[in-house]
Amino acid sequence: MGTPTKLYALCSLLLAFLFPFLNSVQLDGGKLCLPEKHASLFIFGDSLYDPGNNNYINTTTDFQANFGPYGETFFKYPTGRFSDGRVIPDFIAEYAKLPLITPYLHPGYHRYIDGANFASGGAGALVETHQGYVIDLKTQLSYFKNLARLFRKKLGHAEANTFFGRAVYLISIGGNDYLVPFNSNSSVLQSISKEEYVDMVIGNLTTVIKEIYNNGGRKFGFTSMLPLGCLPFTKVLKPGNTGACIEELTTLTKLHNKALPKVLQKLERQLNGFIYSIADGYTAFSERINNPAKYGFKEGKIACCGSGEYRGILSCGGIRSVKEYELCENISEYVFFDSAHLSERANEQVAKLMWSGTSNVTGANYNLKALFEL
Ligand SMILES: *[C@@H]1O[C@H](CO)[C@@H](O)[C@H](O)[C@H]1NC(C)=O
Ligand SMILES: *[C@@H]1O[C@H](CO)[C@@H](O)[C@H](O)[C@H]1NC(C)=O
Ligand SMILES: *[C@@H]1O[C@H](CO)[C@@H](O)[C@H](O)[C@H]1NC(C)=O
Ligand SMILES: *[C@@H]1O[C@H](CO)[C@@H](O)[C@H](O)[C@H]1NC(C)=O
Ligand SMILES: *[C@@H]1O[C@H](CO)[C@@H](O)[C@H](O)[C@H]1NC(C)=O
Repeated sequence: MGTPTKLYALCSLLLAFLFPFLNSVQLDGGKLCLPEKHASLFIFGDSLYDPGNNNYINTTTDFQANFGPYGETFFKYPTGRFSDGRVIPDFIAEYAKLPLITPYLHPGYHRYIDGANFASGGAGALVETHQGYVIDLKTQLSYFKNLARLFRKKLGHAEANTFFGRAVYLISIGGNDYLVPFNSNSSVLQSISKEEYVDMVIGNLTTVIKEIYNNGGRKFGFTSMLPLGCLPFTKVLKPGNTGACIEELTTLTKLHNKALPKVLQKLERQLNGFIYSIADGYTAFSERINNPAKYGFKEGKIACCGSGEYRGILSCGGIRSVKEYELCENISEYVFFDSAHLSERANEQVAKLMWSGTSNVTGANYNLKALFEL
């Protein structure tokens, strides 16, 4: 960087551009406004990370959670998050001493200096996944690129690169791509093998990672795919299922979880400065589903909110296609809030694992805390 005067000029520019509400910012007697190592947080993905982007798109209630009882634990109102309270990136932001990262599409509030959240419930790595109802990963990337372009224009390439290079990029994607062939009349898995399908999902994810890298991104955080075949939601998709996990989905999940670390290791070799973390979400959730008491839960298999067996029908709130639903008494006893999404308490546990856990996924040498501190 340059002289203090130059830094201060940069700071004023940043402030004018990034903080529409100047009174919320402390200039601290002319010192550089950005702490030397300010690392922001950019978030891409699906409902596990969506803080309410889908409130602002033309979609159906199947892909929204902006009605009660969603949100009732922490926020006391429905924010659009698919949980009773906070989702994983909310906890990560807190651990990184950042404010909550608001939905990118929120019209009123954009504190981009701390990052942005582009995630959209129902989204996949493939454009075809719930097409027309969600913000697919490619579109999320295009939003990010717009932002990066703005930063470069205002700050110049070097400063923008420093800013984006310090940031951490969280991505949760793929689950919807794997659910679609089971949850709809899609025949995609009749024409190509499961291996080819997973390659396509991972291939599209890889393209996005590379594009973020090309825009300055260096530090990436992932989890392995949760046990998709064992969600209350998926268990009831197969008529007559007696409670077993859905084997074909477990196969896809395992293929994904084998392919992702390989691709990341390859990127680490190819791309100078690229580093990543992967927390083992698959193992963490298999354990909580099968042995909830060990983690402070009472129920790992039945959702808190929903209807039917395991409350596996995604009817929480009663304004999707099924209008009746049940709600448990004590949400924090449950691993699953609705049939496909985690309770705030479970989200917090994964977030802790991602933040400070030691991962046994091959090649994952960092946790998120280390990425933020680098
Ligand atoms: C939203 O989608 C519905 C049905 O897909 C369509 O009829 C309506 O015109 C759309 N509204 C906007 C604002 O695009
Ligand atoms: C699948 O197709 C059948 C008959 O064409 C239809 O009744 C059903 O609603 C479809 N299911 C989904 C999930 O789209
Ligand atoms: C990305 O997905 C599309 C289908 O949406 C597929 O045709 C394409 O081959 C995939 N790209 C990669 C690099 O795998
Ligand atoms: C709800 O469950 C949690 C976890 O088991 C427990 O700590 C808490 O006391 C319970 N709350 C009520 C009101 O029973
Ligand atoms: C991680 O460790 C758990 C045991 O704690 C094990 O069951 C799991 O298979 C391991 N995962 C990987 C990817 O090695």
